[in-house]
Amino acid sequence: MMFFKRKNIDNSIDMSNLPEHIGVIMDGNGRWAKKRGLPRSAGHKAGAESLKKIVTEANNMGIKYITVYAFSTENWKRPKAEVDYLMNLLMDYLINAEKTLAGENVRIRAIGSRAELSDEMCRQIEKTEKLTADRSGIVMNIALNYGGREELVNATRSLCRAVADGKLAPEDITEEKIEGELYTANQPDVDLLIRTSGEQRLSNFMLWQVSYAEMIFVKKAWPDFKPRDLHECIRIYQGRGRRFGGI
Ligand code: FPP
Repeated sequence: MMFFKRKNIDNSIDMSNLPEHIGVIMDGNGRWAKKRGLPRSAGHKAGAESLKKIVTEANNMGIKYITVYAFSTENWKRPKAEVDYLMNLLMDYLINAEKTLAGENVRIRAIGSRAELSDEMCRQIEKTEKLTADRSGIVMNIALNYGGREELVNATRSLCRAVADGKLAPEDITEEKIEGELYTANQPDVDLLIRTSGEQRLSNFMLWQVSYAEMIFVKKAWPDFKPRDLHECIRIYQGRGRRFGGI
């Protein structure tokens, strides 16, 4: 039997039927803070703490991939002070990943466009990716300056270039070829998508990869989302009949 820390997991979770890849839209940090009379930054800080606990728990359970939406291509529209705060938080997260997720065996990757990120951030991403690449635990994709449409535009460009260069025939463009150009190439599709804070939309998150994902919308704001809520989402996921278009 596989070993993992069982202490908080009750028997109603079927450990042989876990989602392989979980996507998380960590929404509601701002509202969480406002409700407490705190600045929005306090909500993001609490959100980052929440994230550590959820990734640790997912890893302990044996989940293989988790992708979290940390900063979208649209988030640049926020006030500069908030953008700066989020970037600093992300930077700290990457720098401390060695320590804070030590022993957790988490592999960290950033997905999204690096072109608009600072050189310092790009260097840190590369460093953290390299430092954690050989680990055997959960793969954590941090979606950072990520947009699902941008990802598909990039993939399209890349395949068109191959066609223009005579290396690929249009007829040979398949789903696998497109998948191979995504930031998540070689990773499985998202099985379970969780969005907190009551909103029920995708907001440009992993448009291709969530095609057959079960979606669960949770009322709680992200900073209030606890490991037991993750368990509840997995239980709900396991109660759904996935047919992938079949009967
Ligand atoms: C959505 O809440 C959340 C974000 C735009 C940022 C998510 C970031 C974190 C959870 C922390 C940083 C992440 C890492 C990896 C360190 P919102 O601000 O849109 O909340 P609102 O809808 O209530 O205003």
